Formats: sequence, structure tokens, C-alpha cells
Amino acid sequence: QKDERLSGKKIIITAGPTREKIDPVRYLTNHSTGKMGYAVAEEAAKAGAEVILISGPVSLAPPQGIHVVKVESAQEMYEAVISQYNDADIVIKSAAVADYRPKNYADHKIKKQPGEQVIELERTKDILMELGQRKDKQLLIGFAAETDHVSEYARKKLTSKNADMIVANNVKTEGAGFGTDTNIVTFYRKDGVTKEFPILSKKEVASKIIDEVCLLMKEQR
Ligand code: PMT
Repeated sequence: QKDERLSGKKIIITAGPTREKIDPVRYLTNHSTGKMGYAVAEEAAKAGAEVILISGPVSLAPPQGIHVVKVESAQEMYEAVISQYNDADIVIKSAAVADYRPKNYADHKIKKQPGEQVIELERTKDILMELGQRKDKQLLIGFAAETDHVSEYARKKLTSKNADMIVANNVKTEGAGFGTDTNIVTFYRKDGVTKEFPILSKKEVASKIIDEVCLLMKEQR
């Protein structure tokens, strides 16, 4: 039987890392491979949604039948997400967005010099925060990648970013977080409901996220 739970719904999913350029040969990034976000995109498409996958640089093949928008920096991801936001029904932010970028981009390769080199950093835009502020009808799901105080930080993100749910993972735990094919997550919902899961494949985690999104959509109505 065809899964049509999200049919007629437009869903934005972000995935992968961002790259913040220092000079033409160097950049700042993180360990995200996009596996978590791409799995969520595939499960959302299976449930019948129109999926816009906004992806940082990853080596995964674009999932079939899904519209992929490739971006590089946090600023580009911000612009891509905002341009699709008004008529979106759901946003799931699994991307690992850089919080800082080099303040000055050097348009030539920075040459080695004796002694230390200091790179000044400035804050990037917090995309999830901005979406929370502009929220109208959209269901907003964020992630929290933490190494300690996971539940405390996840709950803080729920309120500070005006999200409907945060999917938290402790990226220091084996089998969870960056790069692996598995993840260990806890859902923190705005209404206080918390759901903890054992180690699952990222595909299974993605399917749990989509189930929860469907539940939240039903409750919103
Ligand atoms: O890609 P994989 O290798 O499969 O790894 C999966 C993952 C570990 C990247 C994923 O499970 C995950 O935790 N993604 C969120 C990573 C992250 O950036 O977490 P954070 O706690 O720093 O950010 C919290 C939320 O704010 C996230 O939804 C993030 O997308 C968003 N954010 C953060 C910074 C920023 N400038 N803008 C944002 O929107």
C-alpha cells in the first residue's frame, strides 16, 4: 500500500556540513557526512512529501526523485532555506552548520610565516533561530549535536529556537553522531514529551523522525 502520510506537504531538509573559506585552498568544516539528513530526505519522500534537500558538500549520491540544492557555506545554506521557507510545511535541520566563519577571506593563499598565525572568526547566521522567529504554520524540527549535558542543551534549544522538536544525539557516544551508519537519539518535544531510542540505523532513525512528524502534524490540526 502506498504511503501518503505526507502527500501534498512540502518539506525542507538540510544535511551535511558547511565549508567556511579561509583562503582559496583552505576552509573550516566539521565531520558531517550527510548520512543522517539524506536518510531523513528519503523517508520523507517515501511518505509522499515534496522534498527539498539542501545539502552541504558531501560525497553521497543524490537520492532518486528528490530535488537537491547544493550549497557550501552557512550563508549559502541560510539563503537557500529562507528562499523555500514561506510555502514549506515542515523543516528538518539535520545539517551541521558552522557557528563561526573567518572574518576576512584572503583571496590569495596565505603564506607560511615563522611564529603563530591567528585567524579571527565571526558568527554565522543561526538558521534555525531565524526560522523559529519567522515561524507561521511550519513544523520546525532541529537537531542537537552535543558531547555533554545533552538533555539540558536540547531543551534549551527547543525554547531559544522556537522549535517543535529537537532530535538530540551525543556525538561522543560510539555508534552515534557523525559519519556512522547508526545513531542514538532522543526526541524532545515542545509539549514536554520525550522519547528515547536505542541504537538504530540512520534509516530507522529517519523513519522514527518522519513518524513523529506525522503525529505532530495530526495533533496540530
Ligand atoms: O551527517 P552525519 O555524518 O550523518 O552526522 C549526523 C549529524 C551528527 C550531523 C546529525 O545527527 C546532527 O546532529 N546534526 C546537527 C548538527 C549541529 O550542527 O548541531 P548543533 O547542536 O550545533 O545545532 C543545533 C541546530 O541548529 C541544528 O539543527 C543545526 O542545523 C542548527 N543550526 C546550527 C548553527 C547555525 N548557524 N544554524 C543552524 O541552523
